[in-house]
Amino acid sequence: MTAAQRRAIAELGDRYLVEFSGDAVDLDCLFGRRASRTVEVGFGTGDALLALAGSEPGRDFFGIEVYPPGVGRLLARCEEAGLGNVRVAMADALEVLEHWLEPSSVEEVLVWFPDPWPKKRHHKRRLVQPRFTALVHRVLQLGGRLHLATDWEPYAEHMFEVLDSHPGFSNCAHPDRFMPRPERRRETRFESRGRSRGHRVFDLAWRAVESAASR
Ligand SMILES: C[S@@+](CC[C@H](N)C(=O)[O-])C[C@H]1O[C@@H](n2cnc3c(N)ncnc32)[C@H](O)[C@@H]1O
Repeated sequence: MTAAQRRAIAELGDRYLVEFSGDAVDLDCLFGRRASRTVEVGFGTGDALLALAGSEPGRDFFGIEVYPPGVGRLLARCEEAGLGNVRVAMADALEVLEHWLEPSSVEEVLVWFPDPWPKKRHHKRRLVQPRFTALVHRVLQLGGRLHLATDWEPYAEHMFEVLDSHPGFSNCAHPDRFMPRPERRRETRFESRGRSRGHRVFDLAWRAVESAASR
């Protein structure tokens, strides 16, 4: 972590970092308004989140990331850009989705280029698993969207299988499985690295639908 990133966390934490008190976070109170909300899980350096928050001022953005240098970088850049529509949880995404966020409280969840864990013995470390998707479904409003992207084809297949087996999600690309990259998803560092290695990029979008089994 650079000195500037450490300083950003220390000095800007009060403004941007969310502390967990044991009760679910009141997002209206946190952002000081009621607006459509996007959660980005694992934002890395935060470049995509920063760009989205700057270009969509009417929407609020709740980022989740465990990597302190990435959090420090994002906080410093939010301050530079004068953004008031970003808040950050520096914590494990499963914990945040299960305990910090209210059910049906967000309109969109983004998971862009999660660690692919290519070795078979590491597959269990992948973020996109049935427990994760159940927790995403819990926080999404009905009709809300989960958007995933990866440059690792076997992970894209795995994501498809996990989501397809959840009765509360309907694939937005149906009858296709994957969809073209939406314009608002700018290329991230991980994506350009994947492309430079010749990897194809897969975008998947799923809508939350009513499901007795998952509510
Ligand atoms: C491969 S990077 C991708 C970062 C970014 N989305 C991009 O496209 O550049 C995956 C990120 O997810 C974060 N991450 C992994 N597991 C997480 C978890 N359980 N909760 C929060 N963040 C997590 C990692 O720290 C890492 O920054």
